[in-house]
Amino acid sequence: MASFLQFGRRAVVTATRQAKKMSTVAATEQIPHWKRLASAAGVFSVGTVGAIAYAESLPLMAEEEVLHPPHYGWNHSAIDETFDHASIRRGYEVYRQVCSACHSMNSIAFRNLVDVIYSEEEVKAHAAEYEVKNKEPNDAGDYFKRPAKPFDYFPDPYDNEQQSRAANAGAYPPDLSVIVKARHGNEDYIFSLLTGYCDAPAGIAVAEGQHFNPYFPGGKIGMQAPLYDEIIEYEDGTEASTAQLAKDVSTFLAWSAEPEHDERKRMGVKAIIMLSTLAALLLYLKRNKWAPLKSRKISYQPGAYKF
Ligand code: HEC
Repeated sequence: MASFLQFGRRAVVTATRQAKKMSTVAATEQIPHWKRLASAAGVFSVGTVGAIAYAESLPLMAEEEVLHPPHYGWNHSAIDETFDHASIRRGYEVYRQVCSACHSMNSIAFRNLVDVIYSEEEVKAHAAEYEVKNKEPNDAGDYFKRPAKPFDYFPDPYDNEQQSRAANAGAYPPDLSVIVKARHGNEDYIFSLLTGYCDAPAGIAVAEGQHFNPYFPGGKIGMQAPLYDEIIEYEDGTEASTAQLAKDVSTFLAWSAEPEHDERKRMGVKAIIMLSTLAALLLYLKRNKWAPLKSRKISYQPGAYKF
């Protein structure tokens, strides 16, 4: 045991000597500080210039030619504001009567509309206006269609992607359930896209079946302007201008992408009130408990104590 320890100590001593020797060697061969700095700066600037030259030589991609939507003051933007439910209701009318001809909304069921824009009775009656394919076959093994129930999801306009592409000159109308969250600019983008159709500027060729829209990445979209003034009539008598229709359907799509929005904000306000009260109480308690320790005096008087 003793010899083992001795061996260990010797090994450590040798290693330390070796290290000392090496560090003196390194010190004599050291490059001056300023030279190192200069070479690092050189490498850095050559790299930056190279990167800029490379980026400049790249072609401009179609996706980069895009107009960013401005930020609109939505009713639900502020942290203490809920959705404008009258607007969601009108927006649903727009979706149902216009957009649903081409776009599916697979994540939303009729029951999701209860207490958001309709009562339970209204939803039952409304769902029954649609026909959906029953998931299970009947006793004879045949699939059959039946009136939709509140638990059914919104019916698809097309049976599959191929069919929707064939009907839309090769373009695929995406599912709109969470489109607001899936696009840069969110509801501002949807509103701008729907109201942003215009003539293509000189020199830009728009192919057959495509339409010019500066808010769509690349500028050429396969969807023709879906909205125009008075395309539908609102139940509540609101004037159905293009901007109003676009605003309402954007609000509806913002809701469908985040149905928990109102509840989330309500919980947030509750949490802030509760946690700040708790924090104030804890601060008081901490000061109370620490008061004797913080206010005590410690003094050292040499010779005061005799041991
Ligand atoms: C006649 C069919 C048709 C109707 C009606 C229609 N769309 Fe479209 N929509 C399309 C097609 C096709 C595309 C795919 C375009 C593309 O990729 O070039 C599309 C794409 C979109 C996109 C995605 C754009 C992107 O950034 O990818 C949004 C959002 C959209 N539509 C919203 C709507 C809304 C809201 C309505 C109702 C007011 C509507 N659409 C009505 C056919 C339609």
